Amino acid sequence: MKQDLIFDRSYVNGEWTTEGTATFEVTNPANGEKVATVADGGVTITEKAISAAHKAFGSWSKKTAKYRSAILEKFNDLILENTDELARIMTLECGKPLVESKGEVAYGASFIKWFAEEGKRVYGDVIPAPTEDRRIVVIKQPIGVIAAITPWNFPLAMITRKIGPALAAGCTVIVRPTYESPLTALALAHLAEKAGFPAGVVNVVVGKDSAGMGKAICESDLVKKISFTGSTRIGQVLMAQSVSTMKKLSLELGGNAPFIVFEDANIDKAIEGAMVSKYRNAGQTCVCVNRILVHEKVYDEFTSKLTKAVSQLKVGNGLDTGVNIGPMINTAAVKKTTMFVEDAKQKGGDILIGGKAIDNCFFEPTVIGNATKDMKFSSEEIFGPVAAIYKFSTDEEAIQMANDTIYGLASYFYSQNVARCWKVAEALEYGMVGINEGLISTEVAPFGGVKYSGHGREGSKYGIEDYLEIKYMCFGNVI
Ligand code: SIN
Repeated sequence: MKQDLIFDRSYVNGEWTTEGTATFEVTNPANGEKVATVADGGVTITEKAISAAHKAFGSWSKKTAKYRSAILEKFNDLILENTDELARIMTLECGKPLVESKGEVAYGASFIKWFAEEGKRVYGDVIPAPTEDRRIVVIKQPIGVIAAITPWNFPLAMITRKIGPALAAGCTVIVRPTYESPLTALALAHLAEKAGFPAGVVNVVVGKDSAGMGKAICESDLVKKISFTGSTRIGQVLMAQSVSTMKKLSLELGGNAPFIVFEDANIDKAIEGAMVSKYRNAGQTCVCVNRILVHEKVYDEFTSKLTKAVSQLKVGNGLDTGVNIGPMINTAAVKKTTMFVEDAKQKGGDILIGGKAIDNCFFEPTVIGNATKDMKFSSEEIFGPVAAIYKFSTDEEAIQMANDTIYGLASYFYSQNVARCWKVAEALEYGMVGINEGLISTEVAPFGGVKYSGHGREGSKYGIEDYLEIKYMCFGNVI
């Protein structure tokens, strides 16, 4: 009996695959050490998973919502029971501090629990007919096989946020985690099997060939929908490749979140919000603050308080006690963050704290004052622990600056004036707005963006709709 939850191969049709000889290594971003060697499933295993999911759909989609709910409840329990081991695996493969990994296990499980309940409330409609001899009924049915293509920054929660509603709705799933973090996904496959999902209902395929595996999924007529979390560039590729099969897509893509501090804000609360929103997962989340816009009257106070709070952060291996900032995912990410800081320096930005890479694995938590529109991070997502602070003088200017981006995922602002709160919240062109709050992710609310941040919503009562088709039934001659 295996003692830990580390598995080294794809899980397809209720079995751990044994075909093929190619492998790839999963390494710890904190020190480059090998965590595991994993069998590379590639396109062949992806295609097998698609067939298995297609075959399983026939019976899974016909089960009652109550039956599916019971298995999802068991899955939720098993995830929570294995919190420590799942968190350890997550920290080993993606670097986030253990306390954040444990938080992610709870966050991830919450989607399974929520949709175990929500699946029982997939109601249809009876519509008054325009003639006496007709009856009009609307039902909702599972869309079919779905593929969840997921990132390394939330190796567990981005999977459960997609497969929770899909499985509850009656869909079967193929999960393709990114090759940087396959181990959490494989551990979830094991727990899904223990929970009682029949063979073929949950499949996890791992491999390095992101492009090939993605293309196989996009071009398969058997896959009816893709739910993807990742960059806007890859989202566009998946969308283009899915045209020929008319596939539905939910895309949770890049962001450029503004965080506005008005002159009437509670500054201490705004600092708390900025800290959690900016430095969570070393700044590597799609909803991390990218631009902090501060009213000129409170700029000095906010800037010095934020710098002081940042000076308390401890950087290190996520497994070590007291660490708040883990490694960046890879050296390319360290280089990119360095580039943003150097660019800002050259353009007149003040490095108030931090600003440097450590050992090619980490980046010092950084605050940059006097940020301006011409700096690269004004239009690009930083995805690192760098806070850039801009100054503004009127509400109109703040809203204009906040909306001046192609992205529209999360936004945040702090003010104690109720009228201003309503007006600003309505004016922000974003899918989500945190008002006097820096951490807004929860299973009960719809997560998603507008503009180049994608479409579709995850979590909440809206989250299951993406996995359902509407069918209109017209009963004629009812005489
Ligand atoms: C993400 O970064 O993609 C997800 C963040 C969250 O769920 O809070």
